[in-house]
Amino acid sequence: MRPLIVIGNWKMNGSLASNQDWVKTVARGMESGMPAGRKFVVCPPFPYLSQCAGMIKEHSLAFLSLGAQDVSAQSSGAYTGEVAASMLKEMGCSYVIVGHSECRLLHHEVDEVVAAKALEVLDNGMTPVICVGETADERNSGRAQEIVCGQVAKQVSVLQDRLADCLIAYEPVWAIGTGKVASAQVVQDMHRAIRLQLAEFDEDVASHVGILYGGSVKPDNAVELFAMPDIDGGLVGGASLNPQDFLAICQA
Ligand code: 13P
Repeated sequence: MRPLIVIGNWKMNGSLASNQDWVKTVARGMESGMPAGRKFVVCPPFPYLSQCAGMIKEHSLAFLSLGAQDVSAQSSGAYTGEVAASMLKEMGCSYVIVGHSECRLLHHEVDEVVAAKALEVLDNGMTPVICVGETADERNSGRAQEIVCGQVAKQVSVLQDRLADCLIAYEPVWAIGTGKVASAQVVQDMHRAIRLQLAEFDEDVASHVGILYGGSVKPDNAVELFAMPDIDGGLVGGASLNPQDFLAICQA
């Protein structure tokens, strides 16, 4: 049975003061217990990882893990501005998002780099959250599944059976930050296609890999999305900034 996972991706948002309020509110909300068999993760910007790790410890938030939004494909060395997976591990991260569409677009990140980053994350004992997704043009031209399954196939070719220790996040680019959520059935169909793509490599791996959906997930659409058999949780951007909305999605 795959656990339901909700990951909050704060992107480039937050401040020392607002982070403190966020963790306090989430701690209060989680105090009375959370539904069993679920995992919750928060991914703040790099400079706040230490602060958030400290607060998670201080509030004994056993339900909440820490994640990072990106990582270097290199282990160490002369890579100005980059952050190594070993550093994220030291900061208390258990999850790292790789290949987010914003990184693919803004940093020209290609599938090979995404796979190299995922390997770094795995080698340092953390879980990579590998993002895939099609653009509006690709969907409108009827190529959404071909594009997404192609991205997944590239990861399979590098990561092979180590994919069993990864999460995949399907994030259609046209649904990110736009309020245009893909319908639960459209997402379910894509998640099934991704699982079938994984099964071509190994059926056991395919049945174990958690596939999350991201793109305008909100408290009012999370229930329907999470009820689908191949949707194993959400990667939540905007709504995760509001601790009450994040809690509501975690409880969905
Ligand atoms: P939104 O939830 O703001 O659409 O962002 C989704 C996302 O990109 C999460 O990684």
